[in-house]
Amino acid sequence: MSIEPMWSKNITFVNGEIALSGIPVSRLAREFGTPTFFLDEDAFRSRAIVWRDGLKAEFGEKAGHIFYASKAFTCTALAHWISEIGIGIDACTGGELAVALAGGVSPSMIEIHGNNKSVAEINRAVEIGVKTIVVDSLFEIERVADAARKYGKRQAILIRLTPGIEAHTHESISTAHEDVKFGFSIASGAAWSAVEKISSIAELELRGVHCHIGSQIFGTEAFEIAADRLIAFMAKYRDSYGAVLPELDLGGGFGIAYLPNEETVEPSDVIPTIGIAVRKACAKYSLELPLVSLEPGRNIVGPTMFTLYEVGTVKDVVVEDGSIRKYISVDGGMSDNARTALYDAEYFACIAQRSSSAPSVQSRLVGKHCETGDIIIRNIQLPSDVAPGDLIATPATGAYGRSMASNYNHVPRPPVVAVIDRKARVIVRRETEADLLALDVAKM
Ligand code: LLP
Repeated sequence: MSIEPMWSKNITFVNGEIALSGIPVSRLAREFGTPTFFLDEDAFRSRAIVWRDGLKAEFGEKAGHIFYASKAFTCTALAHWISEIGIGIDACTGGELAVALAGGVSPSMIEIHGNNKSVAEINRAVEIGVKTIVVDSLFEIERVADAARKYGKRQAILIRLTPGIEAHTHESISTAHEDVKFGFSIASGAAWSAVEKISSIAELELRGVHCHIGSQIFGTEAFEIAADRLIAFMAKYRDSYGAVLPELDLGGGFGIAYLPNEETVEPSDVIPTIGIAVRKACAKYSLELPLVSLEPGRNIVGPTMFTLYEVGTVKDVVVEDGSIRKYISVDGGMSDNARTALYDAEYFACIAQRSSSAPSVQSRLVGKHCETGDIIIRNIQLPSDVAPGDLIATPATGAYGRSMASNYNHVPRPPVVAVIDRKARVIVRRETEADLLALDVAKM
């Protein structure tokens, strides 16, 4: 079988069985159980490095940082890899910040995001000396200023701008059109009012501007428009204040392949085009090139994990048009993959531990939760002989899979197992019923 684009680089198919770094899935399932997220550590490291080096190659001394968007997936081990690789981390809650610090990421490589950071989160970020806080509201500007005063610091900030772009992706993950909760609108003048407020506060050092236009974006047009609008804004700042803002952060959102006919955006597809757009806009507005940063999350981690499930039951259901749909129920579901229910996301799946020459039939991959919407894959052709005990793999579940997992129906969340150099190790352990019960305060 040829390796399709949604599988990570160390996946092979040996006699019809999937192997990661040479370890067959049947062995992984025996050792770690199912459902489990298996992470191709070498693929993760290489993807992070290619982004890091791509930014450097394009912008040279004007390369800012790649900030890995840790909301896509984070844990202490992964944060440690990030610190080894030397890229930064975008944390948008106290929890994500705590993981970054536990993994040994230097505060000077941490950027803080979020549209409603708590005062406690802001205080902690300022106290430990994070690189930047990206401010998102007028209230927050005051809160960051208060924290800076409290700790006797001058805090570097970026201002999140809403450039008014309709990025072509699902509405829930599109973030830079006007009618959203994020950022300050350039068009309405809100962004300029925020700049005026910031400039009156000595404890805040406005380092530059930021935007994030959405997620799972293909093509570069939206990034090119965003670069032009943000740089125009930076030029307006220069003209009004006689000072140059040194940083430009264009966010993340770079798409990946979930299905065999799709393609993952590679840094070499987008960074040079972004480079051209940024230079062109700088020339247009006679602005010197700022430091340029990006925040890929999904694109780094998404393609590096697959979920392994075991089939529990199979049922043939006659549907409205008289045809039969095979319902294949696995031992996970919407608690480890909420994306199908939330965004109509599409995934691929296959029998993982054997090949099959049985004819393909109309199938639906479902979970074990008590609701009809508990669907992992709505429509897929799978061999008619899928049976209880078969292992099913869904590739490209690394981003927003484990990180959005829930305990619905009191299902313990799956572990994450990192595999590299033919060795597998748990980096997030499986939750247990004891973990679930540990939060209950029994009132007898
Ligand atoms: N930077 C900022 C400020 C963001 O808000 C995000 C994602 C990123 C970077 C990273 O975006 P990425 O490169 O991963 O596309 N749960 C949704 C995705 C929500 C993305 C939220 N913000 C999903 O499963 O598709």
